Amino acid sequence: MNKHEQERNPVLKVRNLRVYYETPKGDVLAVDGIDFNLYEGETLGLVGESGCGKSTAAMGILQLVTPPGRIVDGEVMLEGENLLGLPDKELRAMRWVKLALIPQGAMNSLNPTMKVSDQIADVILAHEKKYDRKRLKPRILELLSLVGLPGRVYELYPHELSGGMKQRVCIAMAIALNPTVIVADESTSALDVVVQRVVAQTMLRVKEALGVSMIMIGHDMGLMAQMVDRIAVMYAGKIVEIAPVKDMFTDPKHPYSELLIDSVPSLKERKPLKITEGITHDPRNPPPGCIFQLRCPFVMDVCRRDAPPMQEVKPDQLVACHLYQVHEDGSYIDVRDVVGNP
Ligand SMILES: Nc1ncnc2c1ncn2[C@@H]1O[C@H](COP(=O)(O)OP(=O)(O)OP(=O)(O)O)[C@@H](O)[C@H]1O
Ligand code: SF4
Ligand SMILES: [Mg+2]
Repeated sequence: MNKHEQERNPVLKVRNLRVYYETPKGDVLAVDGIDFNLYEGETLGLVGESGCGKSTAAMGILQLVTPPGRIVDGEVMLEGENLLGLPDKELRAMRWVKLALIPQGAMNSLNPTMKVSDQIADVILAHEKKYDRKRLKPRILELLSLVGLPGRVYELYPHELSGGMKQRVCIAMAIALNPTVIVADESTSALDVVVQRVVAQTMLRVKEALGVSMIMIGHDMGLMAQMVDRIAVMYAGKIVEIAPVKDMFTDPKHPYSELLIDSVPSLKERKPLKITEGITHDPRNPPPGCIFQLRCPFVMDVCRRDAPPMQEVKPDQLVACHLYQVHEDGSYIDVRDVVGNP
């Protein structure tokens, strides 16, 4: 942990989380030792190209990994309690109440045979059994209003709603029990651009109203720029850089972050990540050293040998890359400035 992080109180601490998938040809190292903090009221963006392990990380944090996946190692501390190894009953009691997930594709998994109101009521009743379903109506209407949906949605079925409305129902379900942390996995990706923005604004409003902390997983760097406080960049199962959103956009440090930011033409003109190459190594057999070495234009001998440690190069900006040498006084050099671009 860096010195600035020590001064704040994280609601969620993830340490060395490893989630692997068993395959006949060996384990896919989908999440391979990630560390980060989420602070009170903060929105942390988690970005990276398809297959880098974002959803697996979300499932690992919520302890929802199912075979062939398994959590191999790590700690997920929520308000001081390690969720790893908690009995199922305790985990179930905690989900939605403290830690809620809006899974990737959530809006397509709403039950088509149940009214919206009954689906939200089910979430509440699973944890607050003392309530009578009918008495929940004012609370559900309030939730619908909080996510910007009209009261008539109470009586509707999912197929009667647009994509954006369905996604807002999923947000209403996630906040129904006033959780401490929400993990939203690509909550706006399947929507058209205008609706994306509206749903994103809804999420921000909800976040402000409830003071909830949020991990927002996404592809769209432009949307992220407008929504999150800090960004964590993932590549092939690892977080390679984590920084306040402004620093990430104006001064990315990791060569992969630089590539991602270059793919955003301007903060006004949003577009999804458009990296031409995918992860180049076999995720079952990563090379020794840096995970990005096969695509990195600056690769050095040391990168093929040693995995770069996470270092704080600027306040709150942490990067795992051998290009940066941090001195004891906190200053750093970028070896490209010293030896020129290799
Ligand atoms: N059931 C599975 N069995 C084997 N490998 C899997 C399984 N599920 C995911 N993976 C692999 O784990 C890695 C991470 O997948 P994950 O779905 O977490 O990525 P992601 O970053 O969420 O991608 P996307 O942006 O497409 O949603 C990928 O290499 C993927 O192929
Ligand atoms: S550690 Fe080396 S290979 Fe990895 S990103 Fe930095 S310069 Fe490139
Ligand atoms: Mg995903």
